[in-house]
Amino acid sequence: MTIQEVLVKAREILKASKYNSLEAEVILGNILNKERVYLHINSDIELKKNEENRFFKELQELKEGKPLQYITGQTYWQGLDFYCNESTLIPREDTRILYEEATELIKLMGEKKVKLVEIGTGSGILPVLLKKENPTVQVYTVEKNPVTLETARKNFQKHKVEVESYLGDLLEPIRKRGLKAEIIISNPPYVSHKEYLELDKEVKNEPYEALVGGADGLDFYRRIGREYKYVLNKGGYLAVEIGWQQFEAVKEIFEKCGLTLIKKAVDDGGRDRVVVLEYKDK
Ligand SMILES: C[S@@+](CC[C@H](N)C(=O)[O-])C[C@H]1O[C@@H](n2cnc3c(N)ncnc32)[C@H](O)[C@@H]1O
Repeated sequence: MTIQEVLVKAREILKASKYNSLEAEVILGNILNKERVYLHINSDIELKKNEENRFFKELQELKEGKPLQYITGQTYWQGLDFYCNESTLIPREDTRILYEEATELIKLMGEKKVKLVEIGTGSGILPVLLKKENPTVQVYTVEKNPVTLETARKNFQKHKVEVESYLGDLLEPIRKRGLKAEIIISNPPYVSHKEYLELDKEVKNEPYEALVGGADGLDFYRRIGREYKYVLNKGGYLAVEIGWQQFEAVKEIFEKCGLTLIKKAVDDGGRDRVVVLEYKDK
């Protein structure tokens, strides 16, 4: 079949779904390793049998709820492209707020030599962007899932950033090395188990461990609250992404653990997204 013929058939296959020819073209472009515009200019080119088979197989996977990013192995965030796969959370636009708050904190430190630790790197979007924009900051990150960490490391290489990345649980690898930081950031898993059950089937294709933070979604904030003192220098900051209904609970958890709220940041829809706290030097 020609490119045009498979795309016409794809439209037919996707007709009753929420997808359309855009997704079909992205999949075919990825298989052929060509831009979408190539498909239109070369619509009469015959596909090889293996290309055609792979195309219809992946189209079927899309229809059954596999995210397009997992099919192509590629995702975009803040204008950059990143490798991703079934082990990595697909980066969300809202995480931009955490990136912006981390950038503000780095600026606040002025000329100081800043060490920043991220917990739960996923595809590595935050370390990549932060290191690219702030080359003098020493960036460390921890990830529990080895396949995810490997993907993040590929992204660090792809974007040519030097990030110290460790496999491990929460702050443990940082603590073990006796490292101390001025800033800790995290977009931890914060969906409750009950909320998870109600998510779209497409989101459920993403790793459970990257989404769910225990029965009420707050487990990671409790754990970070117990452990931050081993890594954060006095006068340092913690910035975390939160679920839009979690502000009061997260604030209470961290205040009980000796941190002081300095800011709550909201998304474009006015929903609570990020909490910034200080480990006061007093
Ligand atoms: C919500 S995702 C965030 C990924 C990425 N930072 C982002 O913002 O797109 C949370 C990440 O934390 C990782 N994670 C879960 N439990 C962890 C733990 N105990 N220690 C370190 N990382 C963990 C997950 O594998 C996942 O990659």
